[in-house]
Amino acid sequence: MFFWLKNKKNNNQNKKISQKKELNFKDNDAKILLQEIKDKFGLDYEKQKLVTLQKIERFAIKNGIGDFRELKAKIDNSIELQTRLINMLTVTETYFYRELGHFKILLKLMKEKNIKKILCVPSSSGEEVYSILMYLQERQQADIFVTGLDLNSDEVAAAKKGCYLERSLHLLPKNLHTKYFQRQEGRYCVSHLIKKRANFLHQNIFDTSFLELGSFDAIFCRNMFIYFNNDKKVKALSQIHTLLPIGGILFIGHADISFTPEGFIKKISNDGNYFIKV
Ligand SMILES: C[S@@+](CC[C@H](N)C(=O)[O-])C[C@H]1O[C@@H](n2cnc3c(N)ncnc32)[C@H](O)[C@@H]1O
Repeated sequence: MFFWLKNKKNNNQNKKISQKKELNFKDNDAKILLQEIKDKFGLDYEKQKLVTLQKIERFAIKNGIGDFRELKAKIDNSIELQTRLINMLTVTETYFYRELGHFKILLKLMKEKNIKKILCVPSSSGEEVYSILMYLQERQQADIFVTGLDLNSDEVAAAKKGCYLERSLHLLPKNLHTKYFQRQEGRYCVSHLIKKRANFLHQNIFDTSFLELGSFDAIFCRNMFIYFNNDKKVKALSQIHTLLPIGGILFIGHADISFTPEGFIKKISNDGNYFIKV
């Protein structure tokens, strides 16, 4: 009896060791995979290479894949697997009323310009899109439509659902909690009044289909450039430039870029900086 148990244990251990031996996560294959992620999606993990590769390795093993080369081949052939890998890698932190200064500027500019259609890229789980609509609704600007767009399909699904934990609302004035949300199973769900003026798309800013979204009067592009290298920042800004008319407004997160994008002029105000397409 004891002999049998011991033998079983040894067999399992041997199995684990041989499984480990079969795994082959080589550095050169990792380099090629990270380069592909950077080229396609702009995501540059050079500074967090080790931790990112550990995450990717765990992802591969969970999906029964034994090395980076096999993983690369599989994601090249399966959009579904590629999407799950990208969802796992992207940092999607966001919350309501983040960097409120830009909303104040938008409101002021609405008095001078005809602003009806706004794009929010990236929109992550939707808080930014709904914040813009709530802020404007509070100031009698209800005739606005906001499109949110993000690379992470799980976050786009969450945005469409529009239900949040209380911590996402920590900067939102308390009176708006009851005014624009319904409580459902411990979550705060955005009311129809706001939701009906938002829509969300799963897309990569670098895809050519991004250029087919039509024209927007203002674009919010905040807290995404920190993951891009300089070339990708310039490329993303040129994609955005195409979707704005002359005089269109661009809001960029305060930590995102340190230069004025080509084809824009920079405006400085007490509430923050922004750019106008020229
Ligand atoms: C930190 S969140 C920013 C959300 C929101 N704009 C904000 O300021 O709170 C960054 C988001 O950028 C998205 N992202 C990264 N690369 C992208 C790309 N190539 N195209 C579209 N979205 C991308 C990620 O999926 C993530 O949800």
